[in-house]
Amino acid sequence: MYTLSKIADEYCVAEDDLDYYANSHNINLGNKRKSLQQLLPFIEDVPDRVFKTLNESHTEFQYEDKKISIYQDDAISFLKKLPPNSVDVIVTDPAYSGMNNKLKLGKGRIVGKYSDKGTSEGKWFSEFEDSEENYTLFLSECKRVLKESTGHIYLMFDSFSLLSLGNVVRDFFDVKNIITWDKVNIGMGHYYRRRHEYVIFSTNGNTRKIKNRSFPDVWQFKRIHNSKYPTQKPVEVFQAMIYASTEDKFTVCDPFLGSASSAIAAIKNNCNFIGCDISDKAMEISKERIGEYLSSGVDILQKKSSAIESGKVFWE
Ligand SMILES: C[S@@+](CC[C@H](N)C(=O)[O-])C[C@H]1O[C@@H](n2cnc3c(N)ncnc32)[C@H](O)[C@@H]1O
Repeated sequence: MYTLSKIADEYCVAEDDLDYYANSHNINLGNKRKSLQQLLPFIEDVPDRVFKTLNESHTEFQYEDKKISIYQDDAISFLKKLPPNSVDVIVTDPAYSGMNNKLKLGKGRIVGKYSDKGTSEGKWFSEFEDSEENYTLFLSECKRVLKESTGHIYLMFDSFSLLSLGNVVRDFFDVKNIITWDKVNIGMGHYYRRRHEYVIFSTNGNTRKIKNRSFPDVWQFKRIHNSKYPTQKPVEVFQAMIYASTEDKFTVCDPFLGSASSAIAAIKNNCNFIGCDISDKAMEISKERIGEYLSSGVDILQKKSSAIESGKVFWE
């Protein structure tokens, strides 16, 4: 039997408030699908629901009236614990296994490059198994946690994973564009040296627009050299996504947090943030970086802007 109490429980809202809303809007629970659609505008507006289901060990930061909460967990297991329709925007940069497994670059595996600083297996972090089956599971959880009214999602891809997994995104989301991140300087590669990555931008079926129609789909931000965390991305890459797709107090989620570049970008855009990473090292670095940024305004992992002309970014 579908009851208000079950919905309140599943969606993490107060039953009395839900009851009041249902009564004042003459919502009849007889038809589960229809009644849920009618209740969603209320449910999606209840603040902070996203933080309510995760009680295990996490680190939480507060700034103004907003929260940043980070967890050590596997991405899929973490997303499964979040309430449905509780996140406004997902921005994420998964550790795809394909590129490393198939294309051995330079002296070996990319994530093994810093082996002297990493884990006992000689790697900094584990990779996310990028089979179609696993990616489908991951996207179905992203879909479940994203709000219907506001949900936007930005998924980063290297060229290998774009071809093998990019098509799956369409099974779940309304793909609007593929953005090219031009890293300005060349990297490794035997057949044309790599200078770019991709970001698939999609909505969760809604028609919410980005902030400005004149934003381009090629972004030039210099790659980070000698980063403290391998695969660390410039904060500006995430800032572009978050600036274009959020309003004040929106909740942004990154389930492959790495060194927390996305969390710093969320703070710069006055958003709440929730994220996770499976690795000890990522959690250690992220806690230090977010804490220091909130207390002193200094980003200890990225001291300089990655814009080509320092400080000049397309959204300002
Ligand atoms: C490409 S890095 C993210 C880098 C990040 N964007 C930054 O700027 O620092 C991917 C991250 O995914 C994490 N990871 C790998 N497998 C994971 C999993 N199953 N669940 C959650 N995180 C995972 C790795 O530990 C790594 O930190």
